[in-house]
Amino acid sequence: MKKTIDFMMDKKKAGQKITMLTCYDYPTAVIQENAGIDIIFVGDSVGTNMLGYKSATEVTLEDMLHHLKAVRRGVEKALLVADMPYRSYETKEIALKNAQLFIEAGADAVKLEGREEKVVEYLTKNNIDVIGHIGFTPQTHEKVSMQGKTFEQGKELYESALSLQTSGLKLLVLEMVPEEVAGLISEYLMIPTIGIAAGRYCDGQVQVINDLLGMTQRKLVHVKEYADYKNSTFEAVQKYKDEVENRIFPHENNVRNMDADELHEFKALF
Ligand code: KIV
Repeated sequence: MKKTIDFMMDKKKAGQKITMLTCYDYPTAVIQENAGIDIIFVGDSVGTNMLGYKSATEVTLEDMLHHLKAVRRGVEKALLVADMPYRSYETKEIALKNAQLFIEAGADAVKLEGREEKVVEYLTKNNIDVIGHIGFTPQTHEKVSMQGKTFEQGKELYESALSLQTSGLKLLVLEMVPEEVAGLISEYLMIPTIGIAAGRYCDGQVQVINDLLGMTQRKLVHVKEYADYKNSTFEAVQKYKDEVENRIFPHENNVRNMDADELHEFKALF
């Protein structure tokens, strides 16, 4: 069964948590799909996590489409969401043109940051499902910092969430928000919220796959490493190097031989 926006709404109503992970390539998409992740998300964090960029603002539409197409090939049931990169939704007309490219490349919905009610309304009117993202928004905040820590900021976040919901938003990502604020917003919003560094009470959770697998150097409070990619990959590469240099690899089990008659004829050439 294909997972839709309605499926996410049903999960919220039933009090079941929604799972979402970033994904940037085909093999990881296949693994996430087989593990039953609800939302597979090609985030613009591809820039800093996979492409060596310094900031999310360097990510282009072409970068996003390239990674989206690879992930699409590995996804069947999960809802596939793609991030609209920096400056790709400056006007509602530009947003529609670019969002349509994402849909043609296989996205089921697009995600964009901030209070873009007009854009959300216009895309929704044109049958494109939109996911929002408020709190810390990497495309506009230069410094990583918690948002919504004061009454005024919390109120502003709540008002943004309500207003985006009224514009037709289907899901809302809350990033780096105190869990009390995220919890109350989640409770009073009709649409599902997905938290990252936003505590335990959102309707779902999203994490950057690189953090989850232990690929990055950074140590963040909101991250739990479920694997030790960095060390296990380093060990594997180092072992390969040693075995090649010491003639252990390839082993006779790793080779294919020529038929004896053919070999006899071939040797006669030399
Ligand atoms: O691009 C990204 O990784 C995000 C986060 C919400 C996970 O937008």
